[in-house]
Amino acid sequence: MNRSSCREAVFHRVAVACDHGGLALKDVVVSSLEGLGIEALDLGTNSPDSVDYPDFAAAAAYRIADGTAEAAILICGTGIGMAMSANKVAGIRAANCGDEYSASMARAHNDANALALGARVVGPGLAEALVERFCTTPFEGGRHARRVEKMMELETRGVEE
Ligand code: RB5
Repeated sequence: MNRSSCREAVFHRVAVACDHGGLALKDVVVSSLEGLGIEALDLGTNSPDSVDYPDFAAAAAYRIADGTAEAAILICGTGIGMAMSANKVAGIRAANCGDEYSASMARAHNDANALALGARVVGPGLAEALVERFCTTPFEGGRHARRVEKMMELETRGVEE
């Protein structure tokens, strides 16, 4: 039995996007999602040719924004460019995680809807564990909901009053 199937997924459809630096992990991520019973919406890239990570981060972020996907897994060399780019899109809370605790907390406390991974940082075994933590940890709500609400208000707030 795939160890990912032990816990119940909180998402049904998750977009997956990578650049050339993240390509090595994309199949692992797609298989991990499928092992959790989650439909993976593969948005590329599909070749090692150099591409620009903001294009792929945007493609996935817009699928969350328009409701096609509930969440996204974004992979580049470090996870940094993907997370930074996705977080420019309204409604996206992308967390770049390289340890299981952070991947759980990104969901439980921050209600993250995108997980960014660095394929040059994280190996396939850890990537599978991170995807599982991210996709099976529910948001705790309560005091964290107030904080996430304040976070999202920063999208529309001007300079400090
Ligand atoms: C591509 O070489 C690399 O810069 C990209 O994958 C990512 O790590 C950027 O944040």
